[in-house]
Amino acid sequence: MIEIKVFETQQEIAAYAGEVYKKLINEKPHAVLGLATGSSPISLYKRLIELNQAKEIDFSNVVTVNLDEYVGIESTHSQSYRYFMNEQLFNHINISKENTHVPNGQTQDLEHACHEYEEIIDQVGPFDIQLLGVGVNGHIGFNEPSLTLNSLTHIEDLKTSTLEANARFFDSIEQVPTKAITMGLGPIMKSKQVILIATGESKANAIKALTTGIIDPQCPVSFLQLHPNVLVLLDTAAAKYV
Ligand code: GLP
Repeated sequence: MIEIKVFETQQEIAAYAGEVYKKLINEKPHAVLGLATGSSPISLYKRLIELNQAKEIDFSNVVTVNLDEYVGIESTHSQSYRYFMNEQLFNHINISKENTHVPNGQTQDLEHACHEYEEIIDQVGPFDIQLLGVGVNGHIGFNEPSLTLNSLTHIEDLKTSTLEANARFFDSIEQVPTKAITMGLGPIMKSKQVILIATGESKANAIKALTTGIIDPQCPVSFLQLHPNVLVLLDTAAAKYV
C-alpha cells in the first residue's frame, strides 16, 4: 500500500520523516535502517542529527545498511557513498561505525563483495525502514531500468541519464564512475516499511509510476506498488502528476 504526502518544503518533509524515525528508534533501540545517498535524504539526515543532539533519538544500538556504492573510487573520495554517509550523518550522531554498512566498491573481487554484502543483509535484515530516493529514470538504489531486475546485491552498469544526473557532484561527466554495486530489490521489498523522498519536477514522471498499477522493470520504482507499507514524501513539484 502506498501513502503519498505532499509538503511545501524539504524541511517539512524532514520534520515529518524525523518523527517516524524517532518513534521507531525509541520503541526499538536496535532498529535496522536501510539508508540512501543522493540529495533527497540530506534534509532528513540534518533533522536526525538535530534529534540526536537534542537527545531525542539514541543511535547507539542502531544498525544501518546502505543501498549502494560506486565502483572504482576510494572510500575517502569526496563522492564515494561511504564518505557521503560519514559526512552527512554518521560523524554527527552517536552511532557506532561498526554498525554502519556500505557496499565495498573498492575491491578487485567485486563478486565476493556482492556475496559479502548479501550475507550482511541476511544477518541484520529485514530492515525496519528502507529509505529511498528515486532516479529521474525510476531507478532505486542503483537498480537501473532493464528487461529484468535482480533481487540480490549485484554490479550495475549505470545508464547515461544517471551519469548525467550525477555529474553535478563531479568536476566533469567523465569522472562519474560508470559502474556501481547495489543492493537488489529483495531487501527493499522485504523491509517492514519503505520511506521514499522525492523533490523537484524532474522526479514527477518517476513518481507517477507509483500510481498506475503497472509493474515495469523499465521503471524499477514501480515495484514498490507491490510493497505493503510505503510512505512517499513529496514536494508539490514532484507530486505534479499524482
Ligand atoms: C543516485 C543514487 C540513488 C538516489 C538517486 C537520486 O543515483 N544511487 O540512491 O536515490 O541517485 O538522487 P538525488 O536524491 O540526488 O536526486
